[in-house]
Amino acid sequence: MSRLFDTAVSSGIPALPAHARRAAPLALDALPENDLVRHHVNLSRKNLCVDSSFYPLGSCTMKYSPKAGEAVASEPGFLQAHPWQPDSEVQGVLQALGELQQDLAAVTGMEAVCLYPAAGAHGELCALKTARQYFRLRGDTDRTEVLVPENAHGTNPASAAMSGLTVVVVKMDATGRVDLADLRQKVSNRTAVLMLTNPNTLGLFETCIEDVARAVHDAGGLLYYDGANLNAILGRVRPGDMGFDMVHVNLHKTFSIPHGGGGPGAGPIGVKSHLAPYLPGPFLKREEGAWGWAEADRRSIGRYHGAFGNFLNLLKAWVYLRLLGDEGIRRVSLGAVLNANYLQEKLRPMFPIPYGHGRCMHEFVASAIALKDKFGVSAMDVAKRILDEGLYAPTVYFPLLVREALMIEPTETERRETLDRFVELMQTILREAETNPQRLHDAPIRTPVRRVDDVRAARHPILK
Ligand SMILES: Cc1ncc(COP(=O)(O)O)c(C=O)c1O
Repeated sequence: MSRLFDTAVSSGIPALPAHARRAAPLALDALPENDLVRHHVNLSRKNLCVDSSFYPLGSCTMKYSPKAGEAVASEPGFLQAHPWQPDSEVQGVLQALGELQQDLAAVTGMEAVCLYPAAGAHGELCALKTARQYFRLRGDTDRTEVLVPENAHGTNPASAAMSGLTVVVVKMDATGRVDLADLRQKVSNRTAVLMLTNPNTLGLFETCIEDVARAVHDAGGLLYYDGANLNAILGRVRPGDMGFDMVHVNLHKTFSIPHGGGGPGAGPIGVKSHLAPYLPGPFLKREEGAWGWAEADRRSIGRYHGAFGNFLNLLKAWVYLRLLGDEGIRRVSLGAVLNANYLQEKLRPMFPIPYGHGRCMHEFVASAIALKDKFGVSAMDVAKRILDEGLYAPTVYFPLLVREALMIEPTETERRETLDRFVELMQTILREAETNPQRLHDAPIRTPVRRVDDVRAARHPILK
């Protein structure tokens, strides 16, 4: 450090004034590198992650992120690229983004793609604003309602509200799918958009999707596809072919980029051609063999992210698609659905699966209600006990339609042996519920942080 400082002085750069300098050097030198490395490695071990354990967190698609993506994203040419470099200097960067734009359009059946939203929820907001602009510029300003099924993910109604639109809840039928009669009653000339994920949050394919699309389109509304569950249908059926006009894809789910603790992720959106002029830009284009940028249409809603989105994450998704190829893309959905059905059948004798009469798609929702009624053991107790074995837990208490919900998504990147170990653990937990329920109430006892007091946290939050 002092060598650098001396060089700076001798090269003519003025030194800091005396009052701004430290009297003594920082104590950093006292910490050897190995201590620093151990500190960070041990910190990382306090966390559960897909690199350390099975992570069946329903709806979140916690699949393995191939390290090839990290390797490419660490290449200096990508790592050090600057968003405002001349196009001719960063043709590789632009090519990767441009091809990703095309690939996402191809797998979703859309005609234009905007890469920039930083998460699924951000994509929802961006797409709903795009839809509003579409209606506004057509003079169709009474369309202020967004239809959302009652089992929708919370971000759907939240994004609708943040876009200044009113949420109208559509009921589910007895099979756990959109209740067509209720939808037909609620859709009207005030409907802007219906937001739907297919398969839905119960892990069920919306078999009447064409009727749903017809009902919304006949009323002049648009269909929005929440792509959080796209891994279930990848390479088999496309949202665009089901009648959807807009879609977001969570690259941190279906396209394997790391979730990164809630961000930065990436939630690009795609739209059919009638909505393309309203999308945020700019877009990648290829002309005379060279990649470059095309500015957005003057009807665009404006920019939605600084620079060009979470570039290194977009790059990892591009690598992932190249690793898979056409055939690999189809294997994603095959594996996701096969693994979920394997687990569903193994767990069926242990837990009720209220909407699980037939095959599921990539996930299913079991219920701990029988344990609760018989032994006072809740879904939360089960989830916390799983953490004690070094595995992550299923999503709990969502969707709200299922009491004591345990939403399980194994993902396609897990082997049968891993799924079997999870089944054995669930058997152990069932035995404990009967013989030693206190063990479950006390869990977790082996994690760095024990059971937190939810009630106290809610009543006396420490927000600093
Ligand atoms: C069904 C569904 N929709 C939307 C989202 C929101 O996505 P993100 O977390 O990327 O904002 C999620 C996230 O888990 C989800 O599961």
